[in-house]
Amino acid sequence: MKAVVFQGIGDISIENVPEPKIKAPTDAIVRITASAICGTDLHFVRGTLPGVKKGRILGHEAIGIVEETGAAVRNFRKGDRVVIPSTVGCGSCVYCRSGYHSQCNVANPQGPSAGTVFFGGPEKAGGLDGLQAEYARVPYASANLVRLPAEITDDQAILMSDILPTSYMAAVMAEIKPSDTAAIYGCGPVGLFAIACAQHLGAGRVFAIDNVESRLEMARSHGAEIIHFDREDPLAVLKDLTSGSGPDRVIDAVGTDAATASKGLAKIGKDENKEFQQEMKKVAPEGTPAGGSFQPGGAPSQALQWAIESVAKGGTVSVIGVYSAPLPFPIDQVVEKNLTVKAGNCNHRRYMPKMLELVRSGIIRPEQFLTQTQPIVSAIDAYRAFDRHQPGWIKVKLEPSQHQRRAA
Ligand SMILES: NC(=O)c1ccc[n+]([C@@H]2O[C@H](COP(=O)([O-])OP(=O)(O)OC[C@H]3O[C@@H](n4cnc5c(N)ncnc54)[C@H](O)[C@@H]3O)[C@@H](O)[C@H]2O)c1
Ligand SMILES: [Zn+2]
Ligand SMILES: [Zn+2]
Repeated sequence: MKAVVFQGIGDISIENVPEPKIKAPTDAIVRITASAICGTDLHFVRGTLPGVKKGRILGHEAIGIVEETGAAVRNFRKGDRVVIPSTVGCGSCVYCRSGYHSQCNVANPQGPSAGTVFFGGPEKAGGLDGLQAEYARVPYASANLVRLPAEITDDQAILMSDILPTSYMAAVMAEIKPSDTAAIYGCGPVGLFAIACAQHLGAGRVFAIDNVESRLEMARSHGAEIIHFDREDPLAVLKDLTSGSGPDRVIDAVGTDAATASKGLAKIGKDENKEFQQEMKKVAPEGTPAGGSFQPGGAPSQALQWAIESVAKGGTVSVIGVYSAPLPFPIDQVVEKNLTVKAGNCNHRRYMPKMLELVRSGIIRPEQFLTQTQPIVSAIDAYRAFDRHQPGWIKVKLEPSQHQRRAA
């Protein structure tokens, strides 16, 4: 089968690889009908989320049709149409049963403290092959597959695998209540969906910060008040727009590939730039691509620092952007301003019933942010376009070139 394969930092390719097989009675094999590219995949290729093994199939967002089930899978059978949540939990341990599927005690073969298990990630994330392929093996399938109702389309469902529940969790962690003011750093897919989720939770005003014109325009068209950080100082503008207090709730939807202002009022001095260069050494110990595509943001802690600086006294900061190394963190302001900071990997499975309800009822229309559909054979070009924020490239769906029958 064809799959997107990690070859090394800055280097991914489409390869013919063996189809997966059932390894445990709790596994299922899913024929992928659509997968997607995520900002997290970009961190791997940029070198800012290291540890992905050469040869690993990438991707952690997909929908498909169940092809085969292990003997212990009683709730699915061949032909069922499913969405695959990005993180993997056993469904039975104390963490899964409390809705903390990303902290499952059982799913990571390296032990309960090894970290969140997800498809197509670094070895410490469980060493599972990813979903940008024609078939995938899903462990603990009874708990990790979610049946799709017929009225939810593929274009809606593919965004429910990761991005919609992640953004919803970000808005919930931010404790957004009716009439709150909310600021969202990052207008990639996660930030854009977080705008929709903040509005759903009743936010009175939503501010969106980025430096990519087309993404800011998308945020504006969904009702956010936009701030371009290469033109204005986001901290000053947010203060100004909130009568001096700052927004009540702030979401960091950027993570380790944050950039700082390259021009304008927020442009930093040489000393601060040196600090970001030091951070880069921690974040990308295996190096970054020499040139061309997949260049890291270069200022890893910038969005997090802005988030904490801009939030109102007594406010909440929700960190959904991924971080891969210890970075400077303004703990003094957290204490001084009585802030609440919440962070974490999404517990996708926990939010899935709620997401099905929101999408089925038309309250959230995730397909609005799906801007591209490409065959999987064009995935490398699609990665490049998504990486350089090509106008119009918000969320990319990858489709297998042909749904041929599986080799016996
Ligand atoms: N915690 C989870 O479970 C989870 C799940 C999915 C994605 N994520 C993470 O969420 C983050 C966003 O994902 P995405 O797919 O939207 O990625 P993306 O790369 O498409 O979007 C990031 C956006 O942030 C903008 N940006 C860069 N520096 C900024 C700054 N200083 N201030 C404001 N905006 C800035 C970029 O221009 C870009 O538009 C990534 O870190 C990804 O790994 C986390
Ligand atoms: Zn993702
Ligand atoms: Zn578990």
